[in-house]
Amino acid sequence: MKIALAGKGGVGKTTFASLLAYTFADLGRTVLAIDADPAPSLGVALGFPDEVLCRLRPVAEMRDFIAERTGVAPGHYGSYFKLNPRVDDIPDRFSATHRGIRLLQLGSVEKRGGSGCFCAESTLLKALVSHILLNRNEVVVLDFYAGVEHLGRATADSVDAMLVLAEPTLGSLAAATQIRDLARDIHLDRLFLVGTKVVGDDERHFITDRSPGLPVLGFLSLDSKVREGDRAGVAAYDLSPALVAETKGILSALGNELERASGNEKGRTVVFASPAPAG
Ligand SMILES: Nc1ncnc2c1ncn2[C@@H]1O[C@H](COP(=O)(O)OP(=O)(O)O)[C@@H](O)[C@H]1O
Ligand SMILES: [Mg+2]
Repeated sequence: MKIALAGKGGVGKTTFASLLAYTFADLGRTVLAIDADPAPSLGVALGFPDEVLCRLRPVAEMRDFIAERTGVAPGHYGSYFKLNPRVDDIPDRFSATHRGIRLLQLGSVEKRGGSGCFCAESTLLKALVSHILLNRNEVVVLDFYAGVEHLGRATADSVDAMLVLAEPTLGSLAAATQIRDLARDIHLDRLFLVGTKVVGDDERHFITDRSPGLPVLGFLSLDSKVREGDRAGVAAYDLSPALVAETKGILSALGNELERASGNEKGRTVVFASPAPAG
C-alpha cells in the first residue's frame, strides 16, 4: 500500500501522515514514512525521541554521498551525471525506526535556473522515490509538503492513492484543485479528498459541496489536543482517540474505493487489509 498526502501548507498533512502510520503499524504492517517537506516535521509529529531525531539527516543534505552516487557535486547541473544512481540501500541506511515506524527525510532540493531543476539532488531523490514506490513492499506513507514534487510520471502509477487534504476554507479548496490538476498531469488518477480541522456538519457540507470533483473519503475533526501534542512532542495518535477513530474510518473507506476501482481496472490488484471501522 502506497499512499501520498498532499494539500496546502498547514492543512494537517503531517498530522494525518502520523495517524496513518500508527494505524497501519497497529494492524501489524511495517511502515515506511517519508517526510518530503524541506523543513522536516514528521518525526516530531510521530513523537520520535529527540536523541533519535538528531541523528537523522535529510538525504538531500548529504552532499558527499550525493556526489559519490551521481558523479557530480551537489547543486551542479547541465554537466554529465548518472541518471540512474544507486539508491536501494538509502531507505535502510539513512532512516530511523521508532515503535515500528521507519522514518526517512528527503530534505529540500534548491531549484536553480528558470527551467526546473536538473541537479544531482533532484535526480537522486526522484530515483529514490521511484525505487521506494516500485520495490519496497511495506506500507509507504508519503508526506508531501504541498503537491506532487518528487513524483515522476513513471512512478505515479505505483501510488495506490493520493489523498488531498483540505480545510473548510476557499483557499484550501482552491489549492486542492491545483493539486488535482498537477496530479492528473502525471496521470495520477486515484485521487481522493479528506476534510481536515472540521467543526460541525456545516463545515463538512462546505467541503463536500466544493470538492473539486474528488470523492470525499471522510473528515478529521479539529482537536485542540493535537496542538498540545505539538508543544509536548507527543503524537496525535496517543492524544486524540477521536482522530484515531476518524483515521480508521478514512482507511476503511479508501479500502472500499480501491477495491471497487480494481474491479474496473484490469490487472491491478489491491492488497489492502481494511481496518475495522471504529466503534
Ligand atoms: N485535526 C487537527 N486539529 C487541530 N489542530 C490540528 C489538526 N491537524 C493539524 N493541526 C495543527 O495544524 C498545524 C499544521 O498541521 P500539519 O499537520 O503540520 O500541517 P501540514 O503538514 O499540512 O503543513 C499544526 O500546528 C497542527 O498541530
Ligand atoms: Mg507538513
